[in-house]
Amino acid sequence: MDYQTKNGHLLFGGCDTVELAREFGTPLYVLDEEMLVENCQSFLRSMEKYYNGRGMVAFAGKSLCCLEVFRIMKREGMALDVVSGGELYTAAKAGFPMEKVFFHGNNKTPQEIRMALEYGVGHIVADNPVELALLEDISAELGKTAKVLFRIKPGVEAHTHQYIQTGQIDSKFGFALENGEAIRAVEQAKTLSHVKLCGLHCHIGSQIFGTEPFREAARIMLRFMKEAGELLGAPLHILNLGGGFGIRYTDDDEPIPYIEYMADVSQTVRETCGALGLDMPEIVIEPGRSVCGPAGITLYTVGNVKTIENVRTYVSVDGGMTDNPRYALYQAPYTALVANQADRPADFTATIAGRCCESGDLIQEHTLIQRPAPGDILAVLCTGAYNYSMASHYNRVLNPAMVLVNGGSARLIVKRESYEDLLKNDL
Ligand code: LLP
Repeated sequence: MDYQTKNGHLLFGGCDTVELAREFGTPLYVLDEEMLVENCQSFLRSMEKYYNGRGMVAFAGKSLCCLEVFRIMKREGMALDVVSGGELYTAAKAGFPMEKVFFHGNNKTPQEIRMALEYGVGHIVADNPVELALLEDISAELGKTAKVLFRIKPGVEAHTHQYIQTGQIDSKFGFALENGEAIRAVEQAKTLSHVKLCGLHCHIGSQIFGTEPFREAARIMLRFMKEAGELLGAPLHILNLGGGFGIRYTDDDEPIPYIEYMADVSQTVRETCGALGLDMPEIVIEPGRSVCGPAGITLYTVGNVKTIENVRTYVSVDGGMTDNPRYALYQAPYTALVANQADRPADFTATIAGRCCESGDLIQEHTLIQRPAPGDILAVLCTGAYNYSMASHYNRVLNPAMVLVNGGSARLIVKRESYEDLLKNDL
């Protein structure tokens, strides 16, 4: 993995990470604003290039949700995908333009649906017939019309961890095509006067490397788009193809430049529309991991280093599964290094352990890092996505702070939790 160093210290966003750890404490999430912005802009540029700007790039808020990140997304011209009242509320507080918000979820509560309609979110991505009925009732009551996309399972199996595959029929998300659920939902929508079906959505999974699953999904979705438009008597004009673009966590990962996804998929969309006699729909994509993943790192302080002869060496850090549950959940690979020895060879095999009362609380097993000593700063790279947003309070461990770095300066964007914060809802 490429990284920059200065005086033997890891640099990130132009900042000395050892200094950051000293100034802000550890564990610490560090987010590089320039990289975040560049990732947004490269998706936006390719949307411009391949779809003549007739599309939207919606940041998947679940990958990293906090006010400042949403403000940056707003400023950069991104749209937003939210999946809960909490993410929606964060978007509202960040002043995000609601017409650019897509509201997802496989089991939205009536309160969340009401909230979304009252806020005036651009599109609600409907998941099931019960939700459609709720949407109709609540919209009628509020005197509004809900603009809706249908979440479709295109039946495409992406090659990724089974917990983050979502396109196949055995998934809790959306309407299946194979068994007629999806077309029945179009029939249902036809009977509703406060729900307007505008388009379709799919998301086939996450951390996907090839372009073919996306192309296949686009073909299937367009075919159904035609069928649904004919049944409805009005063509659908939005096709949201979700996110899922893979990133490099370790040298074993070979991600394709995102522009290639866009080039390949846009060609498929164009060809398929041509063959079906469909007008080109407006295209939406929803990258999360690929926007914020590489833009984040986590810094920890090494505590004890425990070598068990002929077994392994545990290097314990002051965080763990509470700030990064991804190894515990998915055996997710990461690259780690000792930030204050970043120029030294990574020739020490370590299992990086967290501090929870849980044997599975590991950040990485049998990984090569510099030989660590207590007090060293350990950096884990590529933690911008699905770390802060998946943090927990197990063992009442405090959630870390987050700093935004840019060209050598750093500012706090999420405060470190305090013990009082932990008790604020306890009665
Ligand atoms: N759109 C929808 C509807 C999604 O469900 C997701 C992710 C995305 C977009 C963004 O996908 P991305 O570009 O980030 O791959 N917690 C797991 C990932 C779960 C992804 C859930 N949905 C992990 O840590 O790997």
